[in-house]
Amino acid sequence: MDKKLYLIGNFKMNMNMASIKPYLEDLKKVADNTNNAVGICVPYVYLPYVSETLKDSKALYGVQNMHFKDSGAYTGEVSADMLLDFATKLVVIGHSERREYYNETDEAVNLKVKKCLEKGLTPIVCFGEKLEEREAGTYKELIERQVSAALEGIEEESIKDIIFAYEPVWAIGTGKTATSDEAEDAIYYAKSIISAKYGKQIKSIMLYGGSLKPSNANELLSKPSIDGGLIGGACLKMEDFESIIAN
Ligand code: 13P
Repeated sequence: MDKKLYLIGNFKMNMNMASIKPYLEDLKKVADNTNNAVGICVPYVYLPYVSETLKDSKALYGVQNMHFKDSGAYTGEVSADMLLDFATKLVVIGHSERREYYNETDEAVNLKVKKCLEKGLTPIVCFGEKLEEREAGTYKELIERQVSAALEGIEEESIKDIIFAYEPVWAIGTGKTATSDEAEDAIYYAKSIISAKYGKQIKSIMLYGGSLKPSNANELLSKPSIDGGLIGGACLKMEDFESIIAN
């Protein structure tokens, strides 16, 4: 495959200090030996260690959420400036688990995307339908709503600074992957929403996420509209993550 891919691991609430240490040593070797962009999004508490360990590596790193305010009385939250203290690059925004368990709304997603762009952080904006919407055939409306809402008030020149991730909820952590045709079709559609809004010339980076693993990575990642993967479970074992990256 000659296109450059983005292969980003999302640790979610997994790993610990003992497992992260050897993992990062392996990640540095893997990331420095590929032309693909490789990164991980870790729990906040590991950020100081991750930033120090990866500072001379090509591996990108980031976190899984951020508040949209600069500072204030928001117990338990983390601001963009705090992330920048550790030279963070990536921030997952609007993951379906945050939408589902923490009531993250389309409006909050939009505010977070704007804050990332203002601060020079790269948002990884997640969108994707639940099983009901897939089965009812209304998933394209959902995709349109989530993508359009995330981009409300965002200028054309910022699109290149955003990474999008189509993550159908029914495929996350279930072992049930979207077929490569389903993923291609949804991502092509999401890209066309962006072109309709900003003009045909606009290029957007869009990843697929949802039970991506070594056995299905090649087929999904060779699809023309898919620019990489956002990988949950399979990024936790370096052997699996490396095999996705190497192929
Ligand atoms: P899984 O790869 O475990 O299905 O998770 C995908 C995901 O949610 C990445 O953000």
